[in-house]
Amino acid sequence: MKLDIDKLIAEMTLEEKASLCSGLDFWSTKPIERLGIPSFTMTDGPHGLRKPIPGAPEHGIGYSEPSTCFPTGPILAATWDKELLEQVGSSIGKAAQAAGVNMVLGPAINIKRSPLSGRNFEYYSEDPYLTGELAASFINGVQSQGVGTSVKHYAVHNQEYRRMSVDAVVDERTLREIYLPGFEGAVKDAQPWTIMAAYNKVNGTYATENPYLLTDILREEWGFEGAVISDWMAVNERVVALAAGLDLEMPGNGGYGDQKIVKAVQEGKLSVEQVDQAVERVLSLINKALDNSNSIAVYDKEEHHQLARRVATEGMVLLKNENGLLPLQKTGRVAVIGEMAKNPRYQGGGSSHMIPTQIDVPWEKLVAGAAGQIEWSYAQGYELVKDEWNEELVNEAIRSAQHADYAIVFAGLPELYESEGFDREHMRMPDHHNRLIEEVAKVQPNLIVVLSNGSPVEMPWIGHAKAILEAYLGGQAAGSAIADILLGEANPCGKLAETFPEQAEHNPSHFNFPGHNDEVVYREGLLVGYRYYDAKKIKSLFPFGHGLSYTSFEYSGMRLDKTQLTDQETVKVVVSVKNTGPFAGKEIVQLYVRDVKSSVARPAKELKAFSKIYLEPGEAKDIEFVLDKRAFAYYNTILKDWHVESGEFEILAGASSDNILLTATVQVDSTVAVPKRFTRNSTIGDLSEDPIGAKIVQQIMQGMGQSPSEAEKDESADSETTRKMMAEIVKSMPMRTLVATSKGAFDDQKLDYILGQIESNIRS
Ligand code: BGC
Repeated sequence: MKLDIDKLIAEMTLEEKASLCSGLDFWSTKPIERLGIPSFTMTDGPHGLRKPIPGAPEHGIGYSEPSTCFPTGPILAATWDKELLEQVGSSIGKAAQAAGVNMVLGPAINIKRSPLSGRNFEYYSEDPYLTGELAASFINGVQSQGVGTSVKHYAVHNQEYRRMSVDAVVDERTLREIYLPGFEGAVKDAQPWTIMAAYNKVNGTYATENPYLLTDILREEWGFEGAVISDWMAVNERVVALAAGLDLEMPGNGGYGDQKIVKAVQEGKLSVEQVDQAVERVLSLINKALDNSNSIAVYDKEEHHQLARRVATEGMVLLKNENGLLPLQKTGRVAVIGEMAKNPRYQGGGSSHMIPTQIDVPWEKLVAGAAGQIEWSYAQGYELVKDEWNEELVNEAIRSAQHADYAIVFAGLPELYESEGFDREHMRMPDHHNRLIEEVAKVQPNLIVVLSNGSPVEMPWIGHAKAILEAYLGGQAAGSAIADILLGEANPCGKLAETFPEQAEHNPSHFNFPGHNDEVVYREGLLVGYRYYDAKKIKSLFPFGHGLSYTSFEYSGMRLDKTQLTDQETVKVVVSVKNTGPFAGKEIVQLYVRDVKSSVARPAKELKAFSKIYLEPGEAKDIEFVLDKRAFAYYNTILKDWHVESGEFEILAGASSDNILLTATVQVDSTVAVPKRFTRNSTIGDLSEDPIGAKIVQQIMQGMGQSPSEAEKDESADSETTRKMMAEIVKSMPMRTLVATSKGAFDDQKLDYILGQIESNIRS
């Protein structure tokens, strides 16, 4: 049964309409029984279903029905596997159907501006292209089950500090090139049912009250068809928000905002049509839910657990593996050290924190994986809940490491170190985790470190650990994934979707994070993540796109189907990759594009395509990519559009942002001219760069008995330096100076006439 939206809107009172513009409670919209309009329910998100149990406190954190806890954002992203994300989405959609939930609040896709942002464990990446591609796949998966998504948090929501009041100040190109494309990709490729407007202000206006973001860009440019909902309690002024394009205020607040809407309409400050539009969007959501609801939906918990395990295995990143220490030989003695081996941290804190259906404990899975082959020992090493050095536990750990052939230390960030609600104060692990690793390294050279953390950490001990597995917060099956990788049952194939700086201070936002007095200025601009380390030629600890395998790959034979194209055409790029090692494995091939010469500042290179492929030992495959205009474009603030500047571009294929293996060059020609404006204060140099302008400058100067080239040849200029200096000075002189220096040959009227002529020539 579907609602007849037009008929309902015609029948509704103003009060009823307003009532649909905010929630009933924390998790649902208001039903209108008189008209047969049911309620629409939603729950968090984003890496599983957090449906509060009956009688739970409103927010429900810690009181939800058990559901599969999939790996968190960084691992999902580190798989670089769109199909896998679609499968995760589809499983979460199934779980939502079975729980009678109409919409999942996720994915969370804000850009990782700083490694210190407390909620990075929910987000995907520092790269907008990767984010958009993965988000769209996840959304398509959830929505394939007839369950909605809410892509959050739109937009420029990159920190927890003063998250509900801070004003994120960001320039237009950075907004368009870094902070919006993830959302743009999600909207254009997957049409999420809803977008969640963020808490913060963007350039002075709350995201919930921002017509530029909510209407101009989201609907008019990107073609978003769904509804905009607010983050929980993010609405400042309900009427302003509605007029800006915010349809549904969440959660319910006893109808306080609804009354304001009614009053504004009565006073003529808001039109009924504006309210009707929001109502229409909320009713369309309800229709989608009605259309798709499946009261007999069930899902297989074990199947979902196995998927969570596979995703964790494919997303964990082998950061270091000196002398092929891993996979472990299934023989000898192995000391497992660190409470995280028995008491794993596998998800983050806050609104995404869920109750899992089961937990795979790394210690148990390791022992079971090589029972009777490896002689295992365990030492706690530290107390997870205590942030202090425990001599007794450390001594016990050292003893067990001494008597083993290998030591595996489980370390990372305890819950108190990162969560929704607060940012990290530094990028370090607890001191006692770092010191424990150092102490164990002193007695055991075959040291493997397994990290559980939602965001990069400093590794002062890096030179002393032969192997490092970044296990992130891997969801409820993380323990099995860790065991599978360490024991060689699985070949690691995740790659970092973020840069690991050596220390927090190296991160480009460091000096301007998290801001002061409710203002955070994004002064690093476009140089976020690898874009910065590339530009500054600063080595990171581990670069964006890095991840090792137990096998090796060889890249060769890069081919393009053309070497010259216009910005209306596409270019096909083929790269051959061969598995040259002893194990079957997967490689993530990354394609970056570099504008060789540009009149605007651009990052040294940017990710524009990627592919993950499976290869048997000895097997080779051709991988094909297609690049279109967007791959070469920057956002032009005069055109208010993406623009390709004619010229050469390098296409770079690599195994990470720091390991480019193949390069080809292509010429791209623009079909769009950027309009030029010439005024009395345009410089002689500016005019000379334009073909018509150059001629005119030449004529004027000749009329005055001079020309730029003559100035260069000036006999009186006694050195090359002076000539160069004079030429440069002339170039930077505003056109108006010609009037003053023409000794009457030239006046203001003449100048204005000539400038007018140039403009009309350019435009015709
Ligand atoms: C979070 C959202 C979440 C909502 C509902 C907010 O505080 O920012 O991501 O979906 O709460 O729990």
